[in-house]
Amino acid sequence: MSHAVELPEVSADEAAHSAQLVARIRAAIDAAGGWISFARFMQMALYEPGLGYYSAGARKIGAAGDFITAPEVAPVFSRCLAAQCAEVLDALGGGDILEFGAGSGTMAAVMLHELEALGVLPGRYLILDVSADLRERQRETIAAAAPHLLPRVEWLDRLPQHFSGVMVANEVLDAMPVERFVVRDGTVLCLGVAWGEGSFETVEAPAPNELRDRVLRLREDAGDSWPDGYSSELNMGLRGWLGSVADCLERGVMLFVDYGLPRRELYAAERSDGTLLCHFRHRFHDDPLLLPGLQDITSWVDFTAVAEAAVEAGLEVKGYTTQAHFLIGNDLTRHLSDVSGVDLVQRVNLSRQAMLLTLPGEMGERFKVIALARNCDAPLRGLAVRDLTHAL
Ligand SMILES: C[S@@+](CC[C@H](N)C(=O)[O-])C[C@H]1O[C@@H](n2cnc3c(N)ncnc32)[C@H](O)[C@@H]1O
Repeated sequence: MSHAVELPEVSADEAAHSAQLVARIRAAIDAAGGWISFARFMQMALYEPGLGYYSAGARKIGAAGDFITAPEVAPVFSRCLAAQCAEVLDALGGGDILEFGAGSGTMAAVMLHELEALGVLPGRYLILDVSADLRERQRETIAAAAPHLLPRVEWLDRLPQHFSGVMVANEVLDAMPVERFVVRDGTVLCLGVAWGEGSFETVEAPAPNELRDRVLRLREDAGDSWPDGYSSELNMGLRGWLGSVADCLERGVMLFVDYGLPRRELYAAERSDGTLLCHFRHRFHDDPLLLPGLQDITSWVDFTAVAEAAVEAGLEVKGYTTQAHFLIGNDLTRHLSDVSGVDLVQRVNLSRQAMLLTLPGEMGERFKVIALARNCDAPLRGLAVRDLTHAL
C-alpha cells in the first residue's frame, strides 16, 4: 500500500535517536520470535519510554513540529469547548475538568481563561497524558498564559478513583495503537512488523482469534462487500480503555473530538487501504515503518465503536456531531462577531481560523465530537444544532 515517500532530511541527532528506538524494537522482535503485531510496533514507536515519538523530546505539535491540531490553529476552538464545559459544570453545580493527552497545553490554558471569564472555573483542571515529556511543556504553556490559574492544574499519573465534571480529549483516540489486517481469499491475516534487509518490513500472519472474529463482524456489517485484499486497522484496546475511564466517571460528561466516521463508512468497501497516516514536519504519508520515534502515526476513529464501548460501560451517548456544528452550537458566531478592540489583521486571522475549523473540506466535517455521559441530564448546546447519533 505504501507509495514512495520523499521526506525532509533528518539531523544527525534525530537519526541517532531513531537508531536507538530501532534497536529497542528489533530486540522486541527478536524476543517475540521474529515479528511483533503492528499495535505493539505502534505502541513502541509512539510511547516507548524515553524514545517514542510522544515520549521523547521532538517538538511534535505546532508550526515548528510535525502536525497542527485545532487548539493550535485557533484559540476560538478551545473557547467554544470551554462554553460546552461551562454548561455542564453549571448543571452539575461544579466539578473538575480532566483533559486527556493535553499536547502542548494550549487548549488547557485557553479553556481556563475562558472558564474564568464565564465565571465557571472548575475546582481542578486535571491532565493525564501518557507522555511525561509533554508534561513540562504543558506546565510552561499554562504558566506563561495563565499563571494565576496554574495552581488549579494537576498532572495525574493514573486515572482518578472518582471523578465528577467534564472529561475532554482532542485527537487522543486517533493516537492509540491499532492492529492492521488484510483479508485475502476469505482469510483474515494480521499485518505484523519484522526486521528485513536493514529496515522494518510488514509481514502477514494468521490473525489471532479475537482479531479475526472482530474483522469478520466488520466485514459482515459492511454487507460482505469488501474486495479481495481489503486492508484496514482496528483499535483493539479502545473498549478496555474507555471502560476504565468510564469506571471513574461518577457524574458528568466525556467529550471526544477526533477525525473519524461511523463504522459503516469507515469500513466501507471503497476505503480498502485503511486510514493510517503518518506526519513528519507537515508532510503526510502512509508508511508507518519509516523514521521510528520521529514521526507521528494515526488512524481514523470508529465512532460506532466508541458509542458501543460507552454503552457497554454503562454510559449514555448524549450525541454525535461534526466539529463545525459543535462549534456553532457553542457560540462560534458570537466569538467571530465580537471583535470590538480587535485590529483588522486579527479579524482576518480570526475568520481564517474559523474557516479552517468549520469548512467541510478542512476540519469541519472530518472531525467529529461524541458526548458520553453518566448521571447528567443537562442538554448539550454543542449537539443542539445537528445531532448525527442516528448515523452511528
Ligand atoms: C495528537 S496529540 C494531541 C494533543 C492535543 N490534545 C492537541 O489537540 O493538540 C495526542 C496526545 O494524546 C496523548 N495520548 C495518547 N494516548 C493516550 C492515553 N491513553 N491517555 C492519555 N493521553 C494519551 C499523547 O501523548 C499526545 O499528547
